[in-house]
Amino acid sequence: MSATLLRGRLMSFRRAPDNASDTGSYLYEDDGGLLVEDGIIRAVGSYAEIKAAAPADVTEIDHRPYLILPGLIDCHVHFPQMQVIASYAANLLEWLNTYTFPEECRFVETDHAQRIAGLFFDELLRNGTTTAVAYCSVHKTSADAFFAESLKRGTRMIAGKVMMDRNAPQGLLDTAALGYDETRAVIQQWHGTGRNHVAITPRFAITSTPQQMEAAQALAREFPDLHIQTHLSENQDEISYTCSLYPDAKDYTDIYAHYGLLGPKTLLGHAIHLSDRELDAISEAGGIAIHCPTSNLFLGSGLFPLKAFKRREKPVRIAVATDVGGGSSYSMLKTMDEAYKIQQLLGERLNPLESWYHMTLGNAEALSLADRIGTLEPGTDADLVVLDATATPAMRLRMETVKTLGEELFLLQTLGDDRSVVETYVAGKAMKPQAM
Ligand code: GUN
Ligand code: ZN
Repeated sequence: MSATLLRGRLMSFRRAPDNASDTGSYLYEDDGGLLVEDGIIRAVGSYAEIKAAAPADVTEIDHRPYLILPGLIDCHVHFPQMQVIASYAANLLEWLNTYTFPEECRFVETDHAQRIAGLFFDELLRNGTTTAVAYCSVHKTSADAFFAESLKRGTRMIAGKVMMDRNAPQGLLDTAALGYDETRAVIQQWHGTGRNHVAITPRFAITSTPQQMEAAQALAREFPDLHIQTHLSENQDEISYTCSLYPDAKDYTDIYAHYGLLGPKTLLGHAIHLSDRELDAISEAGGIAIHCPTSNLFLGSGLFPLKAFKRREKPVRIAVATDVGGGSSYSMLKTMDEAYKIQQLLGERLNPLESWYHMTLGNAEALSLADRIGTLEPGTDADLVVLDATATPAMRLRMETVKTLGEELFLLQTLGDDRSVVETYVAGKAMKPQAM
């Protein structure tokens, strides 16, 4: 494959920013060049320098004056919930029982799972998201459809067949043994195909019996490198119900710890209402608390103490995510807009550099994948997003008064959405779907 040289304003984090003016935390090239070959970033720097060293037959794509960043990462999303998003419910448990569980039952049908998988990838790429950590449904068909679509598009995705064997409609239940067997089959069939990663995915303690938790533990022992994803402490009624189902556990977190499911690759969706003991346990294990702001507001679940979690003597690792369909937007920009507002309500400041760090390198670090995604470092995957902070009349007008990169990023996050995504590159290929 011949090389491609992308020209534009490059931005990529080197590390977490210490404050809003920490210019040392990122690389920025005002007239930058990014050389891409075979899906990998080969060189990054000023356009003049990269062009001078590029092969003579290089294909050039000029994205000036737009920003080129690493593709955005969504660390928690449910692909079978595309037709659940925007459902009117009082709270999490009502929303799950009334809309979500019935809808997920449809994913036993291969045709339906394949159709939604295609539309789901369209929506991710339209929003500049190049890696997502997804829940499929309980049905193996849904995981097959998801990973086949990912293979077709060439994306780096993490996903799992959900394990759930109680407290849901019959059409949405496996058993401890079936959950084990089918997860194992999904791992063997899909893990490592293209850039696919399989995650062990017990939905949450409410829908898994102790026997199924043991099955998940057996999988985690057998496949110690795999991610584990589940939900934790999203809603007060959920917490009470969960603790009543596991009366011997110290608290909700202890249930997962007890079954060997709490470690440095454990992705804990929501994790809002946690005691100091639980936060210490998560911190010591290296687990990741995943903030899903649009969902937490939409379902009235609570205000995630992101800054307080990071400030602790034993800090908790953080990731950010849409949580569609509890979440109300596929856009990571809109997600961080809401994350900002949640911190405002808590009397905290989430600065724009921090937000963009979380959407890119921060989430890559949370997934232990920073050597592959989340930056523009040579040798990593050429997953990129090209962003226009003047995409709408209101943005264009506001941009007239913007003076700094930080202000531009904040504007993009506050007013931007898929209309600001000029292009999305997956392994060096332009893949943003045309608007329908
Ligand atoms: N807890 C268990 N399942 C779900 C889900 O699908 N969405 C959300 N937001 N929370 C959950
Ligand atoms: Zn979720």
